[in-house]
Amino acid sequence: MCGIVAYIGRRPAVPILIGGLKRLEYRGYDSAGVAVAVTDGLLGVRRCRGRLANLEALLVKAPLAGNVGIGHTRWATHGRPSDENAHPHRVGGVCVVHNGIIENHIGLRARLRGTGREFTSETDTEIVAHLVDEALKQGATSLLEASRKALRQVEGAYAIVLISQDHPGELVAAKNASPMVLGIGEGETFIASDAPALLEHTRNVVFLDEGDIVHLTHAGYTITDLEGAKRERPSRILDWSAEQAEKGGFPHFMLKEIFEQPTAVTNTLRGRLLVPESDVTLDGQEIDTRSLSRLVIVACGTSYHAGLVGKFMIESAARLPVEVDLASEFRYRDPVVGPHDLVVAISQSGETADTLAALKEAKSRGARTLAISNVLDSAIPRAADFTLYTHAGIEIGVASTKCFTAQLAALMLLAIHLGRRTGTLSPGNAQELISQLLLIPQKMENTLKELGDLKELAERYKDVPGFLFMGRGTNYPIALEGALKLKEISYIHAEGYAAGEMKHGPIALIDDGIPVVVIAPKGHGYEKVLSNMSEVRAREGQVIAVATHGDKIISEQCQSVLWVPDAPSLLQPLLTVLPLQLLSYAVSLARGNDVDQPRNLAKSVTVE
Ligand code: AGP
Repeated sequence: MCGIVAYIGRRPAVPILIGGLKRLEYRGYDSAGVAVAVTDGLLGVRRCRGRLANLEALLVKAPLAGNVGIGHTRWATHGRPSDENAHPHRVGGVCVVHNGIIENHIGLRARLRGTGREFTSETDTEIVAHLVDEALKQGATSLLEASRKALRQVEGAYAIVLISQDHPGELVAAKNASPMVLGIGEGETFIASDAPALLEHTRNVVFLDEGDIVHLTHAGYTITDLEGAKRERPSRILDWSAEQAEKGGFPHFMLKEIFEQPTAVTNTLRGRLLVPESDVTLDGQEIDTRSLSRLVIVACGTSYHAGLVGKFMIESAARLPVEVDLASEFRYRDPVVGPHDLVVAISQSGETADTLAALKEAKSRGARTLAISNVLDSAIPRAADFTLYTHAGIEIGVASTKCFTAQLAALMLLAIHLGRRTGTLSPGNAQELISQLLLIPQKMENTLKELGDLKELAERYKDVPGFLFMGRGTNYPIALEGALKLKEISYIHAEGYAAGEMKHGPIALIDDGIPVVVIAPKGHGYEKVLSNMSEVRAREGQVIAVATHGDKIISEQCQSVLWVPDAPSLLQPLLTVLPLQLLSYAVSLARGNDVDQPRNLAKSVTVE
């Protein structure tokens, strides 16, 4: 995720901007830049690919003196990491830094090109600078008025700060669905995407809300909306430590990321659902299904579990056979794959060695390839013919959470896209899936709120020798994922099974000392899971059920219930995985483990 810092006051801006950006380095970035209203009335811009040290070296060679400025660290989403794509973007006398995604960037770019405007980067952000410059040229009398006019045309998520050569003592900041915080100092004001960037200078902050536009001058700040109506926002004194601030007030990155899932899924869907057409665009890429006879999904770990759910989604919507393979197995087994196959490589990091090798193997045998990844321009998307980024924002906790649910959302998008092209998904059915998908982020939000911290449950089971997880259909992969998550961070042995398999062996493990997590939401296979649950109960098993709100039959039959809202079977995994993530987190915490950095694990596995 990108970082923003902006400053207006009496002190030199550059050290404050660089210092603030350094505080956001932990979030990851691939390029950085600053723009400063230099004292002779011009705007100076310095930006480059790579670490902040490169930018600092640039600023030593070509310093910028001034006390109003904007700074940015970029984590690429539209356009690869490069000097040209680094922020700030400048058009005429206007410079902008931006976090988020401009959804209607294709249409806006085409319109602006039609008026003779040229673009120097591949970013969606540059469009905003053009729109503000256009508004100023069309007679807007202030940077604030021009910014409002520009942003009324923009759809999507943004935290934006603008500076203009012709209005040197001003900054304009705007927020919509991307975080932004204002810091109030003595005769100086700060803007940042995240609180850690400000804490060194002030603890008096205002968290901005959706649609806020802030006008900052040396005299202070005012907050209005896009139409100019005044907005009052209370300030508060932040008592977070620097470390707490990095985690957004959460005790661990993993918990922060669990709670970021509604936003991560929204960002994965953003701009891709074509509601009136009952269709999905994969960012303009067209997968020709005429010569396609099969899909093969390759991935590792949690991404492999997402692939197993993807099989259900794609087979149901597109009626194409889907095989799911562990990348480390696929690459070494002389796979039968060729020109009529689409090989989908799923990797949060985009760098997993086995997944990359599997994708290359498939390519060398003539298959078409598609990468689903969270990291732009990483090795796997670079090697693939098509890419679908999840836009979940950087994931720091080693145990993957928000990237998993974002992968599920991306796979549902792929399934609808393919289904509409094979003709097996009618417009009506596509419309139904799209509307259900759009409800998911809110359902996730409610579920996370209602589940609470699961502390009591964790205390009860923190010393057991093992856990079993079971589910059917789309929830079988969730049983596997629940077991993996628990193993990773609690170090308790756990196994996931297809519920129907229990009686073929694993049932021998059941006694009153082994909790069994049964994923049993209403829908496809529900009755079957109920009878599997009874088999466990008959052997004194301790059942923790994941069930649909209000299901009395379940609540009467088990020790604990973790409730989730109703959803179609294909989308249930986006909800049923949430209690399992929280349970793993709570058990790990109760055992005193390092949740974010579990032993023996690495975030990105770049070796075989
Ligand atoms: C997830 O919690 C794990 N840390 C791990 O299984 C991970 O999913 C796997 O290594 C694959 O990583 P990738 O998605 O970056 O390719």
